Amino acid sequence: MRVLNVLALTGLATALAVPLERKAEYAVHSEHFVPRGWRRLDTPRPDDTIALRLGLKQGSFHELERHLYEVSDPDHPRYGQHLSHGDIQGLTRPSEDALDAVHEWLQENGIYLDRVQYSPARDWLTVALPVSDVEDLLDTNYHEYTNDEGVRVVRTTKYSLPRSLHEHVDVVQPTNYFGNTKALGASPFGMGDWKSGGDHQPWHHGGSGSQNLSAVCNETAVTNLCLRTLYKTVDYVPQVPGKNYVATTNYLNQTANYSDFHIFMSEQRKDADPSYQYSYQIVADGVNNQNMEPPEALEMGLDLEANQDVQTVGGFVYPTRFTTYSTGGLSPVFTPDLQYPTNGNEPYLTWLSYVLAQKDLPYVISTSYADDEQTVPINYARRVCAELAQLGARGVTLLFATGDYGVGTNGTCLSNDGKNTTKFLPMFPASCPYVTAVGGTRNIPEEVVTWDESNSFVSGGGLSNYFPRPAYQDGVVEKYLGEIGSLHEGLYNRTGRAYPDLSAQGYRYQIVYAGQTFFFGGTSAAAPTVAGVLTNVNDALLAAGRPPLGFLNPWLYKNAGRAFNDVKGGNIWGCNTSGFPAKEEWDVASGFGTPDFGRILGDLFGKGGGGEYGGGHGWKG
Ligand SMILES: *[C@@H]1O[C@H](CO)[C@@H](O)[C@H](O)[C@H]1NC(C)=O
Ligand SMILES: *[C@@H]1O[C@H](CO)[C@@H](O)[C@H](O)[C@H]1NC(C)=O
Ligand SMILES: *[C@@H]1O[C@H](CO)[C@@H](O)[C@H](O)[C@H]1NC(C)=O
Ligand SMILES: *[C@@H]1O[C@H](CO)[C@@H](O)[C@H](O)[C@H]1NC(C)=O
Ligand SMILES: *[C@@H]1O[C@H](CO)[C@@H](O)[C@H](O)[C@H]1NC(C)=O
Ligand SMILES: *[C@@H]1O[C@H](CO)[C@@H](O)[C@H](O)[C@H]1NC(C)=O
Ligand SMILES: *[C@@H]1O[C@H](CO)[C@@H](O)[C@H](O)[C@H]1NC(C)=O
Ligand SMILES: *[C@@H]1O[C@H](CO)[C@@H](O)[C@H](O)[C@H]1NC(C)=O
Repeated sequence: MRVLNVLALTGLATALAVPLERKAEYAVHSEHFVPRGWRRLDTPRPDDTIALRLGLKQGSFHELERHLYEVSDPDHPRYGQHLSHGDIQGLTRPSEDALDAVHEWLQENGIYLDRVQYSPARDWLTVALPVSDVEDLLDTNYHEYTNDEGVRVVRTTKYSLPRSLHEHVDVVQPTNYFGNTKALGASPFGMGDWKSGGDHQPWHHGGSGSQNLSAVCNETAVTNLCLRTLYKTVDYVPQVPGKNYVATTNYLNQTANYSDFHIFMSEQRKDADPSYQYSYQIVADGVNNQNMEPPEALEMGLDLEANQDVQTVGGFVYPTRFTTYSTGGLSPVFTPDLQYPTNGNEPYLTWLSYVLAQKDLPYVISTSYADDEQTVPINYARRVCAELAQLGARGVTLLFATGDYGVGTNGTCLSNDGKNTTKFLPMFPASCPYVTAVGGTRNIPEEVVTWDESNSFVSGGGLSNYFPRPAYQDGVVEKYLGEIGSLHEGLYNRTGRAYPDLSAQGYRYQIVYAGQTFFFGGTSAAAPTVAGVLTNVNDALLAAGRPPLGFLNPWLYKNAGRAFNDVKGGNIWGCNTSGFPAKEEWDVASGFGTPDFGRILGDLFGKGGGGEYGGGHGWKG
């Protein structure tokens, strides 16, 4: 046994070689191509450090999934009986065999177990090692790669494990997940004319109680009052704002600016107490930069996404408890140094390991970031999706924006596996069956699927190539695929999980950025709007002594017809095609359509229409 840890601690490189006879027992555990847009640079310095994360197979995922579906199904006796932090740990704890096998392997390779850190359920092991040791341990070679945005990561395309470990290990990272995460709205394909906003405009509304849409809505300058009127939360007064809880997430160095939030609330929620504020949770060296950004950052629109998310949610949920997570790019990866100033790009697992360890979770979490599914290694995607299921089982509604590229940006719709097959490009995590995927709409009151002629933004949707269609979707997806017949046959996967699940406005929101009014949008606007509506629903549920909504889809697919506005117009164009058309009832362009708060409450409280629930609490006047 080598004294690897001592060498690592002194920063010396060590030539650790797994003996040849043991290498023979190795087999490739995961292989994934380099996503388009990344270029290989140098080999890393051998003593650069990797925080290697091993995701052990969870003891009873199928059991966890069964619980998830039971507690989320409105017709099941256990509906709403969400699992606790402890229950989840019991279900996700790996077997003793798995832990023993991995421990033995690490020790054989000179890694003392006192250097290993564990997640609470011991399903994640993390150990910091020089890159040369990781290369030996995984029988691979790392390289430095860079992308068009100048992000630098250290990755490999494939790695191996002893055959005997394959049944025990789901995923090892950082290895072959590169991270092409995009903010769905701040990208160049988002709302291109966001700079065209002028100075502050006086908004005289702040919960006026008006139900007259044409009086409060301008469909090319969409205010929070308009959204609250359109989706009918405008007269609702939260009853248990200290008990209820909602969150947004930030990646890619985005900060949600307190000052801009204040200005937004003072303009668009005049009734709000000026001290109302979201709290900030920093994950893995995420940023919370409240200082004046340099002009280049402002020019690029850094922070626009984060601002839009908190402002949209805050406008809907005031005075409800509200937090925002900023996850650092890229940990856990390399320790930053001169040669590698930035870490790798691995946002989801990093955020998940933080949030899953918490006992006090938000009931709704909205995320406006996504990756092209095909650029994410499948074992990584499955593990992230399985961890999202844990949050659902604990009663969290997870909303993910579907992307701003329709079925894929024109001219880019090729498989990335070297074969260049033409195909639609689904987005992850929206494609995970345990989350609720939110698409965008425009026009008021007759909503259609969003597009923006000025900047090629089209609401995203599609069918996953990684996740099969969940049973809750069977009826509606089969009906829709039957209706479109052979349209685009061969460009998408008929057996995959289809999304979006629902939609909301995603066009020309009026928000505040760097002290000024801007128009912004994207499906990244739609997701926080749905978060706002559902947080008010949770308020009504909690006030009535009932559990929160939790994982929404089983309820949604049973009852949405009663509670959502069907979106029947528009197409999610892309890949040089007309994409998927919206149709009557559920479709791959808009899901079930947009929320109607009153009808959602009517459904949940077993009454016919809006307002007649739980004795009429909560309505103003
Ligand atoms: C709605 O508002 C518009 C514009 O202010 C006004 O012309 C119309 O009369 C209003 N309709 C109702 C029913 O109040
Ligand atoms: C609607 O908003 C646009 C800005 O997008 C503005 O030019 C127009 O004057 C507004 N219309 C009304 C009736 O206020
Ligand atoms: C994020 O911010 C950090 C510190 O402010 C900076 O060093 C890094 O280059 C930024 N990364 C990206 C991708 O903008
Ligand atoms: C697809 O559309 C893009 C932009 O509209 C164009 O540049 C490209 O040539 C088109 N590709 C095909 C195969 O038609
Ligand atoms: C696939 O396309 C890339 C450019 O996007 C090209 O470099 C490569 O040669 C193509 N491969 C095949 C098999 O056509
Ligand atoms: C289509 O989806 C199924 C189910 O998820 C999957 O097994 C299959 O590999 C996918 N096909 C392609 C071509 O990606
Ligand atoms: C954030 O708010 C501060 C005032 O607190 C302001 O000076 C700064 O410009 C804002 N940053 C951005 C990126 O808007
Ligand atoms: C993408 O291709 C479609 C179909 O060819 C076309 O109608 C659309 O204008 C294109 N979009 C862009 C932004 O070029």
